[in-house]
Formats: sequence, C-alpha cells, structure tokens
Amino acid sequence: MIITALKSNNEKDTRSPIHSDTISNLLNLGVQIQFEENIGNGINVSDEVFQDQGITKSTREDCLKNGDLIVTNQPIDNAELDHIKKGSTILGMISPFSNQQLIEECAQRNINLVSMEFIPRITRAQKMDVLSSQANLAGYVSVIESAKHLSTALPMMMTAAGTLKPAKVFVIGVGVAGLQAIATAKRLGARVEAFDTRDVVEEQVQSLGAKFVKIDLGETGETDQGYAKELTPEQIQKQKELQSKVCERSDIVITTAQLFGRPAPLLIDNNTIDKMNSGSVIFDMAVESGGNVEGSKVDDIVTRNGVKIIGISNLASKVSNHASLAISNNYNNWICDFFDQENKKLNFDFEDEIIQSSVLVYEGEIKNERFK
Ligand code: NAI
Repeated sequence: MIITALKSNNEKDTRSPIHSDTISNLLNLGVQIQFEENIGNGINVSDEVFQDQGITKSTREDCLKNGDLIVTNQPIDNAELDHIKKGSTILGMISPFSNQQLIEECAQRNINLVSMEFIPRITRAQKMDVLSSQANLAGYVSVIESAKHLSTALPMMMTAAGTLKPAKVFVIGVGVAGLQAIATAKRLGARVEAFDTRDVVEEQVQSLGAKFVKIDLGETGETDQGYAKELTPEQIQKQKELQSKVCERSDIVITTAQLFGRPAPLLIDNNTIDKMNSGSVIFDMAVESGGNVEGSKVDDIVTRNGVKIIGISNLASKVSNHASLAISNNYNNWICDFFDQENKKLNFDFEDEIIQSSVLVYEGEIKNERFK
C-alpha cells in the first residue's frame, strides 16, 4: 500500500500531516510513504530530513495519482479528484459541512472519504480526535495572541515601582479550547472567569482555579457527543445581557462558543463592546465559523471604541510543529487501528463505531446520513 501525504493548499495552514517524530509508526506497518515536496516548510523540516527517514518526495500530482491512501490537512479541490484512482481513500480534515460537492464527487468517482472531523467522542477514539488536538493548541494560542495586544502584563507584580494588578480574563465557551485558554491564562498569572451553557463544566473550571460565572438560561443541555445544544433567540439575548457585566470588567475576553455543524452563536454585540474599557481585547476563536463577536473579521484586527477585536484563522498553525505532531498522531492512530496487516490494506469494518462515523463515502456510496 502507498500512503501519500499532501502539503496544505491553504497558505494560512502551515501544518504538515506527517511529522518526523511520528512517521516510524506508519513505516512499521510495512507501507510505502510518499510526501508532497516542501511539505515540511511550515515546521522547518526539509524534504531531505524526511527522505533520510525512508520516505519519498513526489509532486502533488504524483501524490494524488499514486496514493492508495491520501492524507491531507485540508479539503482537496474537486478538480484534483481527476488524478485520484478509483478505490483510493482520502483521509483528513475535509470541512464536510462546507464541502457537500466534494463528498458527492467522491461517491460518483468511487473514491473513499474519511472525515476526521467525524471521529466519535468515545474514549477509544480520543487518540484520533483531530478537533480536540487542534482546539487544545488553539486555546493556548488565543491567550498568547491576546496578551500581545494588551498594554498590561498578565500576572500581578509587586515591585519597588508599585503594585501591578493582574489582568482579568473572561473565557466564554469551556470546551477543549476554552479549558486550555483558562489553564494558559492562569499559568500566566491572570484572574480568570468563565462561562458555558453546559453546567457540567462548572467543576472543570473550578479545578483549574478559575471562577465559573453563573448565568441561568433555563433548559440548555448537551448532545450525546458532548456538544452544546443550540439556544433559543430569547436565551441568547438573556446570555448577552447577563454576561455583559463580566465583559465590562475584563481586560481580555476569549470566545470559543461553537455549535457542531452550525454557525457559531453571536454572543457579544456592539452594546457590550461599547461598555468595555478602551485597551481591552476580545479574541473571537469562532471567527471562521461565523463569529461570536459582532464585527469580528477573519485574519484581521478591528478596533471599536479602543477595544481590539481579533480574529485569526488556522490558530493551531501558530504552533505548527506541535500541531503537526499531534494531528499526524491522530491520523496514524486511525490508520494503525484499521490496517489489515495480512493483506496490507485498510479494513473498513462497518461494525465499528469509529468507521461508521468517520467514513463519509465508501465504495461509491455516501454512508453518513447527514450528507445523503
Ligand atoms: P465546541 O468546539 O463545539 O464548542 C466549544 C464550547 O462552546 C463548548 O463547550 C460549548 O458548550 C460552548 N458553547 C456553545 N454555545 C455556547 C453559548 N451560547 N455560550 C457559551 N458557551 C457555548 O466543543 P468542544 O470543545 O469540541 O467539546 C465539547 C465537549 O466535548 C467538551 O466537554 C469536551 O470535553 C467533550 N469532548 C469529549 C471527548 C470524548 O472523547 N469523550 C473528546 C473531545 C471533547
């Protein structure tokens, strides 16, 4: 079997789907590996370093043509599907909710498609969970980037020149990214408050030494996969009003609120922004999926009344080496778990919950109900 690894076709995404520290796990399967030239540019790994590890450099077109399994951090352009042979498998992050056409084309062309975004949230699959591994790093980056734009330091400092107060950080949405944002802000010495519609996270917030802000929105809840349920417009309005006070007293507000497969809820509007202190920072981690903050823009900093509203895409790419290490491990774990050693091919066992959930297209058929 030939596994090929593609360089990202999005210049903001500097991650690689393979990493020097994890490639041996794949080689141990007895497969051949080819990678697209310059794949390691964004993580400072040269083609020569990868070649020294026993894998082969190819053009993108050859990677598409030769791969029995093609691994990618970004969706492949529909036009490129012409190069891929029937019966091959694409595995990676393919943004399924905005790529219905890719899914349909793969089915028509008999190309199998595995969406790592659909790894189920079960204990056995945590090692393959790309959304968690990347959100964790993104949460870290959100604090570091916000701190750069604040004109104060985060920790309290008692100096001969006077006492400097700690910064106040408010994290809205305490999933994987939010928890890491809280932990990072705490490590840097900030005072941290946080809110999420899922009240199960209250204890997790407290265990990190932060304060959980209680906002009673009535019935909220979560799905069986642990995702938040969508709020009603009345609940959103109530949340906006009640959390506004916390925003007003915060130096940094980090919003991470997402709804799986749907646009992010708008949680901070201009009313709130206008009451915040000049010089404070809002970091909208949901900017790529619609935004939690009114006026936030992808890859831009918008200033309103002295408040900086930051939106950065591909956040995990800011720590591209670690992001590549983690994501390549996620892919490798999927491949190793579903590799048939005897026949040296993938074993699509549809009795398995992970296969059922992550394989969107198999043998010309769309398998996932959402995309039929
Ligand atoms: P996500 O990225 O979809 O959303 C981020 C956070 O925003 C969530 O905590 C969500 O509750 C919150 N949110 C949504 N609407 C909101 C609103 N109006 N106001 C405030 N917060 C709002 O979620 P993520 O980070 O992918 O994970 C969600 C849960 O799944 C977490 O509890 C996580 O620990 C759990 N999980 C479980 C895994 C497992 O294997 N069992 C693996 C990965 C995550």
